[in-house]
Order: sequence, then C-alpha cells, then structure tokens
Amino acid sequence: MLTIEKKDFHALVNFVQTNYGIDLTKKEQLIVGRLQFTVIEKGFKDFGEYVNHIIENRNADDIEVMLNKLTTNYTHFLREEKHFDYMKKNILPDLESAKKNKVLSIWSAGCSSGEEPYTMSMVLKDHFDKNSSQWDTRVLATDISQNVLRKAQNSIYPQADLENIPKEWVSKYFVKDTGTGGYKVSSGIKENVIFRTFNLMDPIKFKLKFDVVFCRNVMIYFDKPTRAALIKRFYDATNPGGYLFIGHSESLNRDDAPYKQMGPSIYRKPLE
Ligand SMILES: C[S@@+](CC[C@H](N)C(=O)[O-])C[C@H]1O[C@@H](n2cnc3c(N)ncnc32)[C@H](O)[C@@H]1O
Repeated sequence: MLTIEKKDFHALVNFVQTNYGIDLTKKEQLIVGRLQFTVIEKGFKDFGEYVNHIIENRNADDIEVMLNKLTTNYTHFLREEKHFDYMKKNILPDLESAKKNKVLSIWSAGCSSGEEPYTMSMVLKDHFDKNSSQWDTRVLATDISQNVLRKAQNSIYPQADLENIPKEWVSKYFVKDTGTGGYKVSSGIKENVIFRTFNLMDPIKFKLKFDVVFCRNVMIYFDKPTRAALIKRFYDATNPGGYLFIGHSESLNRDDAPYKQMGPSIYRKPLE
C-alpha cells in the first residue's frame, strides 16, 4: 500500500476544498485507498509526484478521474421518501394554481446517477397526469462527476434498484432492457430531466429562478463556510415561496439565509 506525505496530503486537501468544496481534512485513508491504484496505473513514482501533477497541470481528464474516485455517489430511487410525499401533498398543488405560465423550475443539485431527478420526474408525471403536456415541468439535474452523469443519461438500472419503488411505477415508468437484464427509465420520464455538469462552488447563473431545489446529501462533504455560501446562493436563485430540500442528516443554519423551516430538512423562502 502506498502512503502519502503530510505536505502532499495537505496540498491535495487544500486544492480539492478550494476548487470543489469537498472537505477531505479527515480523509487521509480514503484518499490513499481510493487513489493509490490511479497513482500506480498512471506511472507516477509516488503520491508526491501525482499531487504535484494534479495541482500544476490542472488537466481536466485527470481531475475528473480523481473526483470520480473521491466523491461518494450513493443514492437510490425514492430516497428520503417523505420529501416526495411533501412535494405531492403541498408543493405541487400550490404551484399548479399559482403558476399561470405553467412553467415549473426544479433542480436536483448533486443528482448523482439520476435516481433523485428521475424520482421527481415520476412524481411530476403522476401529479400532472393528463395535463402534463400543457406544463413545462423539466427537472434540471446537475453533478460535478461525469461518471455518474453518464450512468444517469444511460438510465438503465439493475432490477434490485427497483425493489422499493411502487410496482405501478415499474410498469408505467420503466421498460425491461433486454441487453443488460436491467430496467430502462421510459422516454417520457427521461425526457423530462436535463442533465448538466455543474460545480456547486460556481456562481449560479441559470436562466430561471427555481421553485424547488433538492440538494440532499451533498453539503455533508463541504466545510461550514462553503456550505453557508452555497445556501446563500441557493436562496438568491430561488423564487419567493420556493423550497430547498436538504438531506435528513443535514442541517441549515438560520444565519446563512432567512429560509423558514417547513418540516424535517424542508425549507421555504418567504413569499415577499
Ligand atoms: C451522495 S450523492 C447524493 C445524491 C442524491 N442527491 C441523493 O441524496 O441521493 C452526492 C453527490 O454530490 C456530488 N458532488 C460533490 N461535490 C460536488 C460539487 N462541488 N458540485 C457538484 N456536485 C458535487 C457528488 O459527485 C455526488 O454525486
């Protein structure tokens, strides 16, 4: 097993934190465990040479490989299901009567391999049902990792991943993929999700402000100042009366932005 010298560890932690917000200060073992194969495979003589290469050259492909290894992409369909219940019961009926232009703007920020935005797309399809063609309910789904975005675009999931979702969803919103034996998200659900690469450290400059932002189980990897700055950016990028959902194990500091708490890990921007 390779080891990493303290100075190289600190340099890499600092680089990743500054550019991608991910806090690896206590993750020396994770860094060594997940990157040592890359260091050897790419022909570097040790971690020092690798870290130097990453920081000096900033090669996009090498940085992508590194981030793919260092980020945790765990997710599943209907994760933290109460959030989707809240959307169904409270948010969608409200938006349906409030939005005269029939355009909703929903963002899955840190969408990983697509299960979260596809779940939203299914909830939206269920809600709007026969009227869905009159509404623009496209979900923006972003992540920093190309690896997970490729999986999301591919939209084929093993049967085991569908075990905890309603049976009628499986028949309505998935088609058996003969090649892999898995299930592919149906075109109606897939077309309603737009996948993009986006680093949450960057300024938020999307055309529309959002009615609903999901950023769940992403900020746990960020340090406090990074989290606080991101929450402020989410707030500014949200319509009055819009919502922010964070992961159940996460919390939002009142000083970061004047959101009102509506339920566990559900926050709302006041209607001016
Ligand atoms: C654990 S997954 C969460 C997926 C989903 N939101 C959920 O709750 O199931 C965290 C995701 O955040 C992404 N991520 C981490 N840092 C990021 C950053 N700076 N910008 C954008 N995405 C980031 C990771 O690539 C990963 O896919």
